[in-house]
Amino acid sequence: MKKKLFIKTYGCQMNVYDSNRMADVMKPHGYETVESPDEADLVVLNTCHIREKAAEKVYSDVGRIRMIKEERCAAGGAEMTIAVAGCVAQAEGAEMMKRAPVIDLVLGPQTYHRLPELVRSAEAGRKNGKPAHLLDTEFPSESKFDFLPEESDLQGPAAFLAVQEGCDKFCTFCVVPYTRGAEYSRPVADLMKEARRLVSKGVRDITLLGQNVNAYHGDDGNGGTGSLGGLIRSLAEIDGLARIRYTTSHPTDMDDALISAHRDVAACMPYLHLPVQSGSDRILAAMNRKHTAESYLDVIRRLRDARPDLALSSDFIVGFPGEKDEDFEATMALVREVGYAQSFSFKYSARPGTPASVMPFQVPEDVKSERLAALQALLSEQQLAFNEACLGKTLEVLVERPGKRPGELVGRSPYLQAVHIDVTGSDYTLDEGTVPTYSDLMGQMVRVEIRDAGPGNLRGVIAA
Ligand code: 5AD
Ligand code: SF4
Repeated sequence: MKKKLFIKTYGCQMNVYDSNRMADVMKPHGYETVESPDEADLVVLNTCHIREKAAEKVYSDVGRIRMIKEERCAAGGAEMTIAVAGCVAQAEGAEMMKRAPVIDLVLGPQTYHRLPELVRSAEAGRKNGKPAHLLDTEFPSESKFDFLPEESDLQGPAAFLAVQEGCDKFCTFCVVPYTRGAEYSRPVADLMKEARRLVSKGVRDITLLGQNVNAYHGDDGNGGTGSLGGLIRSLAEIDGLARIRYTTSHPTDMDDALISAHRDVAACMPYLHLPVQSGSDRILAAMNRKHTAESYLDVIRRLRDARPDLALSSDFIVGFPGEKDEDFEATMALVREVGYAQSFSFKYSARPGTPASVMPFQVPEDVKSERLAALQALLSEQQLAFNEACLGKTLEVLVERPGKRPGELVGRSPYLQAVHIDVTGSDYTLDEGTVPTYSDLMGQMVRVEIRDAGPGNLRGVIAA
């Protein structure tokens, strides 16, 4: 009998990757993933600690899952094991089980290769329905990557590949150095092997993941260390791998090798997420960002020199402690100067244990809201303008999945825009004159003529 595993993922793409890998780890133990917690034998909440809202949401979700568990128990149904993984687990540890005793086990981002034995111990240790309360949040000396099985459940032609983890930068607002630990880069040879395996299973688009991905410095097998630019060049040699992306980068690690990869490597996609956080040098210094507005703009100029059509994306924080109107205006000015294709912006959220949380001059909530609204209005305007500039153009789209409407396919442009393709809307047919279906085009690169542009996506037809 198969056991059922439900995983809920919060937060970043690294967590999405980790959740998939946890499913891979549990699969040999008879667990198949399901879409709802209702019938799950094992529920894993893979949590995010980056802002207070994300972290608090976990407890309300635990409450809901507890109701399901109790109702099922009362009806004589199967036992449910509840595990909390990810960054809240790492940050709060055993406290979580004090606050929500229904949680069976808490494990961190560096120990999830041990999930099967933890689940087994949790099941064995349960007494009269009372959880055993297990904790594994150490930073082990072994790397979990050496213990993970091959990835199994691939969803479509685009995949993530974790190349680097952790962060040594210590931005004063950020929990990541504490929850994910010190920077670690996986060896080049391991990554090449994993990428080849992904491509052999039909993957054509790989996004390299790391909290600080462009600080990548994995063992190159020749007694030296590789760079991200070098890794991208090697990966681009793999036959069948059409697209390479990477996220998230730090401006100060944007070296020449990486910038020139954007010029020289056709598979290196013209889209880059390069968070700036603020446009004010005073605030950037207080954030310990190690770059200024000008040095960031200089990196952008060099990147655009190498790849003129590069689409840029960024994260922004408004209302960092001490942020004055003129600091915020400097952020707005930087946004106007760069022109972003996409962006993510947040109100500063004080996180326990971080230096900024105890800084004086915390900004009142209503000021934060006002600034966020103004910034988001500008960023949305830019995003729409970027999408509208694609009208009438023909873009290469990698078909990833069927759309909601009949005859519709969805894929991504080189600039990471979601593109909805109306397959019946053009004269394009297969050799025998039939209109192609999803299975004909899934995983294929098609040329799409863009006919419609909205704030969040493009629409078009297959070019003749
Ligand atoms: N408050 C608000 N936003 C934050 N981020 C990181 N820490 C905080 C915080 N304490 C944002 C940054 C980062 C993104 C992933 O989340 O913009 O780049
Ligand atoms: Fe959230 Fe950061 Fe952890 Fe990702 S690494 S889940 S963004 S706290």
